Amino acid sequence: MYMKRAFELAQNADPYPNPKVGAVIVRNGIIIGEGYHKKAGRPHAEIEAINDALAKGEDIKGAIIYVSLEPCSKHGRTPPCTEAIRKYGMKIVYGTRDPNQEHSGQPDAEGPTNQEEGEKLNREYFETWNCFVAIKMAMSIDGKTATRTGDSKWISCEESRKLVRKWRSSYDAVMVGAGTVRTDNPKLSGEGKNPVKIIIGDNVPGDAQCLENAIVVSCENAQKKRGDALICGKNEVDLRLLKRKLAERGLRKILIEGGSELNAKALEYGIVNKIYLFIAPKIIGGKDAKGVIGGKGIDKIANAKSARNMKLSHIGEDILLEFDI
Ligand SMILES: NC(=O)c1ccc[n+]([C@@H]2O[C@H](COP(=O)([O-])OP(=O)(O)OC[C@H]3O[C@@H](n4cnc5c(N)ncnc54)[C@H](OP(=O)(O)O)[C@@H]3O)[C@@H](O)[C@H]2O)c1
Repeated sequence: MYMKRAFELAQNADPYPNPKVGAVIVRNGIIIGEGYHKKAGRPHAEIEAINDALAKGEDIKGAIIYVSLEPCSKHGRTPPCTEAIRKYGMKIVYGTRDPNQEHSGQPDAEGPTNQEEGEKLNREYFETWNCFVAIKMAMSIDGKTATRTGDSKWISCEESRKLVRKWRSSYDAVMVGAGTVRTDNPKLSGEGKNPVKIIIGDNVPGDAQCLENAIVVSCENAQKKRGDALICGKNEVDLRLLKRKLAERGLRKILIEGGSELNAKALEYGIVNKIYLFIAPKIIGGKDAKGVIGGKGIDKIANAKSARNMKLSHIGEDILLEFDI
């Protein structure tokens, strides 16, 4: 019941890139303090709960603190929560083990009591700790992402494109294939913070707009690779290895923005967590016009990848379909 309340409070939290956490302090079976992590850099849920109880004049010495995620034990933007909890001699019960090894494994804490629920609540955080990858594409109702000449400006409506600019700022990096850079010469700018750009491929025009703040990724045997390219893989870019290298550089939330060949490779390497698909009320046609996923494709429907947790919403005149992979 107390942990359930801590999880309820965590739902209110919005501390990206930190996980959502809620906490309650209980004494003699009564909740005397509650809190959740409101924003990154602000006090953590445990401290909010302690402050709440103290503000109400409650005695928290020897009470029990129920936290939805293991309390942090290292200095970050705020001091470690375990220090404050120990100061008041409170017992810790936590819901989820922290995937960040620096925080996990509190010797005198009880838990995890609700690991599965906690991983679901903070799915992005858990995956981001490794690296979270989403594909975003816009297509016509007949499934085309460009015309037969390669023109794709613009398939989605202004509202959808505005939303994407906002998303870019919440991602650490935006990834595109060199084909898209050659055809569209996109800026890939965000609204506010500009993400790092990751360009996959060898033939990247020197005057490409997205080269600013960009990492160009190539493979060992590429003929025309740039001198400053990040080498990842032998005969082609190994996207799984790249994902790990990016995570090591602190780039843990990646938005892939096409085109269809890069999307196909990303699915092939199994690095995609989520797909955002804008469907615009336009018909493009053309057997040579590209779709969302290129490559060779599968031979049998039985081998198709399944979408899970499909959600549909309306953005301007477009439909936004989002699902997990
Ligand atoms: N509607 C939309 O949302 C949308 C979004 C983006 C693009 N588009 C359209 O899509 C078209 C471009 O798509 P596309 O499929 O032709 O190209 P693409 O996927 O953007 O780029 C393909 C290129 O990326 C490089 N590449 C990708 N994966 C690689 C790997 N694992 N290892 C090494 N290199 C790799 C190769 O570059 P190199 O050849 O240089 O080696 C390859 O030729 C354009 O018409 C664009 O307008 C539409």
